[in-house]
Amino acid sequence: MRVKKFSNPYIKRIKEFDGIVLSMDDLLCSRRGFNFPVCIDIGCGNGEYLVDVAAKNPDKFYIGFERQYKEVYRTASKIKKLGLNNCKVASTDAKDIPAFFKKNEIADVFILFPDPWPKARQKKKRLINKDYIKSLLSNMIKGSYIKFRTDNDDYFSIMLSVVYDLSLEGEVRILELSRDFRSTRTGADEYITPFERIFMRQGLLINYMLVQRS
Ligand SMILES: C[S@@+](CC[C@H](N)C(=O)[O-])C[C@H]1O[C@@H](n2cnc3c(N)ncnc32)[C@H](O)[C@@H]1O
Repeated sequence: MRVKKFSNPYIKRIKEFDGIVLSMDDLLCSRRGFNFPVCIDIGCGNGEYLVDVAAKNPDKFYIGFERQYKEVYRTASKIKKLGLNNCKVASTDAKDIPAFFKKNEIADVFILFPDPWPKARQKKKRLINKDYIKSLLSNMIKGSYIKFRTDNDDYFSIMLSVVYDLSLEGEVRILELSRDFRSTRTGADEYITPFERIFMRQGLLINYMLVQRS
């Protein structure tokens, strides 16, 4: 039996966006067109939140990290359509982010609805844990923020204990916490991401924390 090989059409299509889609080499070596410190959106999905925040803050520089080629394509299309020159998307696994940046090269970090891996046997696949946050913090500028949102209560509780420990270690300050983000003042103004829209339609509450690098 002949097995038909599937090749993802978006691998080719993202090549249309030279200068917008970043490769591993761009991140590690050339850093063409970078403006440090950069704000990063980890798992930016289709880029809706990323382009919204970049358009509202033209004085800051943004990179979204996304491992699905289709979502990279969708993000790059939005960046191009809006003509944003302060925003790029990295087609790469966000687990490598700590290797891409040096001290004081990262400003704000957005972690919005990371894949929850809800089953007990899947939890080890979660991207965000204490070591990961610590490695981000080591390259973040003082006073910058981490924004974390999830519908998953267990993921949130674990993150709460991580940031609480880090606050005791003097690494961060916890500025805002909510089990119902959309009922807070910040929540009323912030862009609703595509996944957040889905969860809100299902009647789920959105967990939220805002943490500042000390
Ligand atoms: C649940 S979606 C959330 C997307 C978007 N932030 C939102 O709020 O609508 C999670 C996204 O993270 C991406 N993702 C998951 N793990 C990743 C990784 N290790 N590196 C890069 N992207 C990742 C997925 O491909 C997906 O697009």
